Amino acid sequence: MGRDLGERNREAYARYKDDVRKEGKPFFPRAILHDTIMAFVVVAVMIALAVIWYWDAGDTPEGEGLEAGVLGPLYTLPADAGTTDFIPRPAWYFCFLFYLLRIFEWPETVFIATVGIPTIALVLLLGLPFYDRRLERRPSRRPVAMIAAVLTVLSMGVLTYKGATAQEALGSELLKLVPDWAEEQGFTGDEQANEGARLFAVSGCLNCHIYLGSGTGSLGAPDLSDVGDRYEPQALVRYLTNPAEFGNTVMGSYAYLGQENLEKLATFLDASTGDK
Ligand code: HEC
Repeated sequence: MGRDLGERNREAYARYKDDVRKEGKPFFPRAILHDTIMAFVVVAVMIALAVIWYWDAGDTPEGEGLEAGVLGPLYTLPADAGTTDFIPRPAWYFCFLFYLLRIFEWPETVFIATVGIPTIALVLLLGLPFYDRRLERRPSRRPVAMIAAVLTVLSMGVLTYKGATAQEALGSELLKLVPDWAEEQGFTGDEQANEGARLFAVSGCLNCHIYLGSGTGSLGAPDLSDVGDRYEPQALVRYLTNPAEFGNTVMGSYAYLGQENLEKLATFLDASTGDK
């Protein structure tokens, strides 16, 4: 105690040099040999995986190599650029970032979620050797570092899980949520609102909007869980008929659904007064 950091560092460095002199192993050939063996092992594993992948995949009536073996098919059918029911999902290791996008609201805080938080985390990590300069390495003596590490792992784990299991905007899946929506918003007995909710679930609204935690908040579309507080039913019909009239050039017109359906949708939206 009482000695300054520089002095302690110099002592530790001298101790390290001393250890190297007494017990150190030469870089050549020892370390080189280790690295070479390991490199061969890695390449051998890769070759083995490629061979298993190649021989285990089979043919299907549609074509050669389309049947997946343990490591997947050799080929897949060409991508269809015209599809409308494909829902892009991130690889599992990006699910936590993906979920951050659902937590943060467009547009004010999305920048924080996509650029801010990852950048801060990266800077903290890069700076670690500069601000964490104590020699203490026992976990029990480093409560702040340990708590930070555990919290990071936990929150990434939870976010990854939430992102991986988040409901997607597939109409058939979303239809199952309508009874929950009705209960939460209190329109269970209102058949007109229920039909509107089913239309809402299958009309692709949730490709842009979020409703009671389902769907994707994209292109600046607001959460519609409490949209009933903001519009009168007649205004909602007008909105869906001609979003451009309300300055919305992102959302297309839903006039093709017909007046009757638009009124059902409006009844449903009007009954949506928030997550209570
Ligand atoms: C292509 C994306 C997209 C789709 C699909 C979409 N919307 Fe929108 N919607 C938006 C955007 C973006 C806004 C916000 C525009 C603005 O703020 O000017 C919006 C706004 C709204 C609003 C006004 C909300 C408010 O608080 O002001 C309502 C109501 C609405 N949409 C309903 C629907 C319904 C119902 C459907 C399905 C039938 C739907 N939207 C489909 C993008 C979309």
